[in-house]
Amino acid sequence: MCGIVAYIGEKEAYPLLIKGLKRLEYRGYDSAGVALLNGDVNVYKKKGKVQELVNHAQGAKKNGTLGIGHTRWATHGAPDDLNAHPHVSGDGRLALVHNGIIENYALLKKALEKEGHVFHSETDTEVLVHLIEEIQNRDNLPLEEAIRIALTRVVGAYAIVVLDKNDPNKLVAARKASPLVIGIGENEFFLASDATPIIEHTKKVIYLNDEEIAVVRRSGSYDIRTINNEVQAPFIHELDMKIEMLEKGGYDYFMLKEIHEQPTTISDCMRGRLNADEGWIMLGGLEEHVNRITKAKRIIIAACGTSWHAGLIAEYLIEDLARLPVEVEYASELRYRNPIITEDDVVIAISQSGETADTLAALELAKEKGALIYGIVNVVGSSIARITDAGSYIHAGPEIGVASTKAFTGQVTLLTMMALSLAHKRGTISTSYFQQLLNEMSNIPKKVEKVLESNKKIEYIAQEIKDKPNALYLGRGYNFPIALEGALKLKEISYIHAEGYPAAEMKHGPIALIDEEMPVIVIATNKSAYDKIASNIQEVKARKGLVIAVVTEGDEVISQIADYTIEIPDTEEPFTPLLSVIPLQLLSYHIALMRDCNVDQPRNLAKSVTVE
Ligand code: F6R
Repeated sequence: MCGIVAYIGEKEAYPLLIKGLKRLEYRGYDSAGVALLNGDVNVYKKKGKVQELVNHAQGAKKNGTLGIGHTRWATHGAPDDLNAHPHVSGDGRLALVHNGIIENYALLKKALEKEGHVFHSETDTEVLVHLIEEIQNRDNLPLEEAIRIALTRVVGAYAIVVLDKNDPNKLVAARKASPLVIGIGENEFFLASDATPIIEHTKKVIYLNDEEIAVVRRSGSYDIRTINNEVQAPFIHELDMKIEMLEKGGYDYFMLKEIHEQPTTISDCMRGRLNADEGWIMLGGLEEHVNRITKAKRIIIAACGTSWHAGLIAEYLIEDLARLPVEVEYASELRYRNPIITEDDVVIAISQSGETADTLAALELAKEKGALIYGIVNVVGSSIARITDAGSYIHAGPEIGVASTKAFTGQVTLLTMMALSLAHKRGTISTSYFQQLLNEMSNIPKKVEKVLESNKKIEYIAQEIKDKPNALYLGRGYNFPIALEGALKLKEISYIHAEGYPAAEMKHGPIALIDEEMPVIVIATNKSAYDKIASNIQEVKARKGLVIAVVTEGDEVISQIADYTIEIPDTEEPFTPLLSVIPLQLLSYHIALMRDCNVDQPRNLAKSVTVE
């Protein structure tokens, strides 16, 4: 949520900042801005996408080898030119970009107004730059010291980068609960919300920790202190990311590319962890804490959005196969109620970005209560990955489309392996069934490839739905979370209202909505509840609903009743979600495209939700 990029070195900063902002645009795209230091501080800001900023700054003075940039997802104040970052101090000396929320900004603002500060925006960020200015000028302090003192007075979350006109040889950055990465080049530094703008310049990075302040200098030196002024010895990481992963690679949209990458990303997730020929599964994070996890009284899963849907599938998987009780919680609810969590529990956080504020906070709460905390994360080095006791990366590579696709199947793949491993270790499934499941699991990538071949047919079906105002998604058992996920994908990128429901619950309310205008997408592949789902479809047809059914290859019954069917290959029931979600991703994609929606950057959304 909000993207920050900054540069200090020998090169012209502006083109680097713009390229970086375009890479970070998936984090927020309400407005964008840059500040460049070249004797003066030149600030350019514009409502809308980064390209609007580029058009706006055309012909203006943009030289300078030090600069900061920002792409915004609005929290405080409308998305307009005035509220766009960077924000500048009253004396014009400091410029600051910020990701996060300053919760006590109203109180601080009142106090600063009494001191004569005048504000031009509605943002919490402008208050922060004035607070730093006030402290700096009062005692004539170096920038980093003024920032340090200011941050001790701030309540909330922040990643900030600040430049000082009077000190053109350094940038100062700080973070708390919002990510910030420092890229170390040859006599140059890059600062960014994630590694994507950095990767083409250097592979050496430092992930700033909470309540750390970094000073990076043109001379190539840097230092990091805590907010309590303790010197830190940072660890330099080597990035393992290729630049092609950040390109569309011939596809029109990142979302389409990422949908098509799934055979590979699922394989990558299993690589070195599952070997059907030798009959084993090995998840490093799980093995490290094997006793505690296999003997846990309960597993609690905390996540948001699509990751929460992956968690629901894990509940079915782990209870069904490993016979361990599982509870799945919205992280935002878990953190604010008074949950019973004990040392005998294992709390698993699922997060693509590894930065979701609510998920992070839920984990911190679980940690305080003594539970073992386990992260299932995509972004390497992210906050969740770093605070957990153990964890597993899903290795899906950067996911740029705001709607999650390959990260979801990566999460489900990982959780499926976890359930299988726990079941094997706990002896809750027979060795022969374990082996049968391993064999089938290794066929999943090929079967996903097969599902992707239905793309043309799905595009055709999308025509039928594209002008409808509503849609209902139904599923049972393992496919109930897929109904939720299908509905979420449709609403977030095409703005059609959609709901996911357990198929049997339909008659307790939603059936009242069904008429010829209501498309009903039914995931009807379950072997265990096949007849029941067929009856649910009959109930919809009796009320003239339009039925699109996802069925198992060769299905002869439901294909007679439904208006359209999309076939997926047969598989073991616990693995069905990995196949049945694919047509629903493609369906949303095509509908959104037909409605002229921005598939990769849907309105009001951002990829990394670092505010609560
Ligand atoms: C939907 C989507 C969101 C995220 C949610 C959690 O397509 O992407 O619902 O799943 O914001 O994000 P992470 O997984 O990064 O914690």
